Amino acid sequence: MAHHLPWATETALGPSACFGNRVFQALPPALWRQIEDSLATDRELRHHSSRLGALAHLVGRLAGRTDSGWLAKLAEAAVLHDIGKLRLDAAILGKTGPLTDADKAHVRDHGPLGAEMLVAFGGEGFGIATLVARHHHETYDGSGYPDGLAGGAVPEEARIVALCDVYDALRTPRAYKSSFDHAHTMTIMTKGDGRTKPEHFDPHLLRLFVQHSSEIEALYEAA
Ligand SMILES: [Fe+2]
Ligand SMILES: [Fe+2]
Repeated sequence: MAHHLPWATETALGPSACFGNRVFQALPPALWRQIEDSLATDRELRHHSSRLGALAHLVGRLAGRTDSGWLAKLAEAAVLHDIGKLRLDAAILGKTGPLTDADKAHVRDHGPLGAEMLVAFGGEGFGIATLVARHHHETYDGSGYPDGLAGGAVPEEARIVALCDVYDALRTPRAYKSSFDHAHTMTIMTKGDGRTKPEHFDPHLLRLFVQHSSEIEALYEAA
């Protein structure tokens, strides 16, 4: 049964927001009740999640995948990748000063937490979403978290979402940082900036991202 989405009437939302709304609307009621209130107040997370659904679907197609069922599961997983953030301590998330090491560990726990939520409430239907929630902060060079997986050991779906996640994070202004334009974001992803490194990404996927850079930009702008 569909839930009522209090924000679904927001104006000026692109096509990806509709897609994100559909994913949230289809969540099992018990899971929905867990996240409903925090999601209603977190506009930034809703929009980030919706854009990732659209971007991951595009990258999946660019990677040559044509199975519409798999692409739909990939996009669903991308929408739900940060769902664990909705269970984090709001006081830590809202901190304006620097985070302590314990705060950082708490925030990093959003991947495993999200995976736990999806397993507990969704079961096997959320198999891909569970993998993506847990592993979307792994990096291709093995320097990511929570498991330090490297290369092909990182599930392909998580490698796709990780690439889209970094792009979206760099493009989007947040309370603590300004945003970069498309060209600068692509430069950071392909040359590195000290924090983001090209070695973090699956080289094949990064090449596709660069080759189809204008489609990525157009989709981000439309979302
Ligand atoms: Fe995340
Ligand atoms: Fe994210």
